[in-house]
Amino acid sequence: MTDLHVTSSDISRNNREGGNGNNIEVGGEKPAPILIGGPPPGAATVEARDACAWFGDRLVLEGVNLSMTSGEVTALIGPSGCGKSTFLRLINRMHELMPGSAMAGDILLNDEDIYDAAVRAQVIRTRIGMVFQKPNPFPAMSVRQNVLAGLKLTKIRCSDQDALVEQSLQRAGLWREVRERLDSPGGALSGGQQQRLCIARSLAVAPNVLLMDEPCSALDPASTLRVEDTINELRNEVTVVVVTHNMQQAQRVSDRCAFFLAAENEPGRLVEQGPTTTMFTAPADPRTADYVAGKFG
Ligand SMILES: Nc1ncnc2c1ncn2[C@@H]1O[C@H](COP(=O)(O)OP(=O)(O)OP(=O)(O)O)[C@@H](O)[C@H]1O
Ligand SMILES: [Mg+2]
Repeated sequence: MTDLHVTSSDISRNNREGGNGNNIEVGGEKPAPILIGGPPPGAATVEARDACAWFGDRLVLEGVNLSMTSGEVTALIGPSGCGKSTFLRLINRMHELMPGSAMAGDILLNDEDIYDAAVRAQVIRTRIGMVFQKPNPFPAMSVRQNVLAGLKLTKIRCSDQDALVEQSLQRAGLWREVRERLDSPGGALSGGQQQRLCIARSLAVAPNVLLMDEPCSALDPASTLRVEDTINELRNEVTVVVVTHNMQQAQRVSDRCAFFLAAENEPGRLVEQGPTTTMFTAPADPRTADYVAGKFG
């Protein structure tokens, strides 16, 4: 059987064409699945302007200006507690779900304010998907149901669920390992497989941006490399923002890096950002140089 090899831009193109019978051929055999009611097509740029975050009256992140460009992989690096996860949650409207949280500044998705009163948070969380440090599949649901779970929640319809399951698992680099076990529970997979299942679940709704918060920290080296391959394969189809404590990983997967730091009793701030090669070989700020050299954090 021929594996599906369809990109999100194929789906998107098909969506734009309105599913009018012009379906993309898949390996010359099957038409690509068409999503109805999902995000607009393609990768998108996310930009933070003077973004600040509080928990209660404690300012934990201050004045972040950062553009995460469409189709690139941006790595967020910095010591524990400097606000990387908080920043990720700000940019897909999950921060507001946390008790006592507040924010200021603007987050723009392709120049549109995601905090505009007319914008629904759920729509933003579909356009900007998130994968967490600890894989969180629905353990009792089958692999297949896990992949389709996001569609159900967001009421996105799909012309061919089987094709979408296959395509999403392909893109997450998991298809070959689970193709015979689609009806087994998600909880029965290994940790690395569960993480890739969560990536497949996020990809199934065709997000414009994928946020990944230390996606490999619970994984063994082989699974880590597999997830890194997946990130590399996704880079042209979806904007990836990945938090990592692993400097080698940041260098392997990212186009650009952003270094966050919180001085004692101060909020986290963005110290420096730029092309990954520059950040690792000729950073402008001595604190960046020390951090990437492993001198602290
Ligand atoms: N739910 C919360 N309530 C109160 N304070 C919080 C909460 N979550 C995080 N913080 C605080 O906000 C600051 C930033 O935390 P955050 O989790 O964003 O850091 P991080 O850079 O992701 O750290 P790590 O690398 O350890 O994951 C920390 O001082 C933390 O204690
Ligand atoms: Mg964190």
